[in-house]
Amino acid sequence: MNTKIVRIDDENDTDYVDSVLKEAGDIIKNGGLVAFPTETVYGLGGDGLNPKSSAKIYAAKGRPSDNPLIVHIPDMSYLEKITKDVPQVAYEIAQKFWPGPLTMIFNKSDMVPYETTGGLDTVAVRMPSHKLARAFIKEAGGYIAAPSANLSGKPSPTTAKYVAQDMDGRIDMIIDADGVEIGLESTILDMTSEVPTILRPGFITQEMLSKVAGDIDMDVTILSDSSGQAPKAPGMKYRHYAPKGELVLIEGEPEKVVKYINEKTKEHMARGQRTGIIGSSEFEGMYQADSIKIAGTLADTQAYARALYTFLREFDDENIEYMYAHSFESTGVGVAIMNRLLKAAGHRVEKI
Ligand code: TXA
Ligand code: MG
Repeated sequence: MNTKIVRIDDENDTDYVDSVLKEAGDIIKNGGLVAFPTETVYGLGGDGLNPKSSAKIYAAKGRPSDNPLIVHIPDMSYLEKITKDVPQVAYEIAQKFWPGPLTMIFNKSDMVPYETTGGLDTVAVRMPSHKLARAFIKEAGGYIAAPSANLSGKPSPTTAKYVAQDMDGRIDMIIDADGVEIGLESTILDMTSEVPTILRPGFITQEMLSKVAGDIDMDVTILSDSSGQAPKAPGMKYRHYAPKGELVLIEGEPEKVVKYINEKTKEHMARGQRTGIIGSSEFEGMYQADSIKIAGTLADTQAYARALYTFLREFDDENIEYMYAHSFESTGVGVAIMNRLLKAAGHRVEKI
């Protein structure tokens, strides 16, 4: 299959943008697949109400089909057709955080095929804040099922270049545009449990949700692999976001962590092994490794989140075999970063 890559930026006039969105929307309506930017990561979109489209998405990603897809909608008027029993508090949460990087899980209506929900009676729904994404979803009929646009097991793509690296030849079209600002996937909130429960942490934090909705639980598996339980979001059980080399997180006083990491990389380099570090700008110039990646200070969680998946992909491109990163405090957006880092590291953490 020939994948058409279309760049849209501020230079383009509305007629051009409209014509691209119409073409992309028609592809979806005809059962095809289009990758598109959202404020979190790129999505791999198909018609969420068409079982054949969902099957195609799984095939393009190489993803197990028991892993349900998120259905993306352009505005609130599209919610009730695909859901049942939406609790009042969900409307209050939506009022505050939609459109935005939050996915909510509800009981599904008969409209939604089991192929889209991985056989579940619930459906995950998200209304992205990315304007172009919403315009595209509307043009495509209003219900776009979209996982992140990476091959299964790779970090979610935050640029069209990485979408193309994984999806070229596998899908009909890639819309390349700016505005992928957050860099980590949306927070997933299960609204079908008695107390709304975070199944995947993201930019919208437990603290933020609690302010609107009171008690909010967090799936115990988010930061621990020793709870002996399976994650409630089926996709969270897979070893995701994994770079090819071995990543270890180092927990401790930041100065000591820098020193310890340098000792480790020195040992590897003496053995001729290629090393990488994700560091903090306070210590810029002090790290020793073949590849050093710095997004900002560790306190600048937004910059770190935005860059993390790019760093992991670059390490692969540079054939880095051993990687080290500071471990993160598990508060605010740090929970989401630590959750992704732990997965990328296969839960290898050293406390010093
Ligand atoms: O930011 C995002 O959410 C991005 C962009 C493209 O919107 N999408 C994304 O989709 O991250 P994906 O497929 O890579 O991750 C969806 C996660 C999976 O872990 C899946 O198991 C979970 O959502 N999920 C989907 N529907 C569910 C349901 N009904 N119950 C529990 N978990 C569900
Ligand atoms: Mg994904």
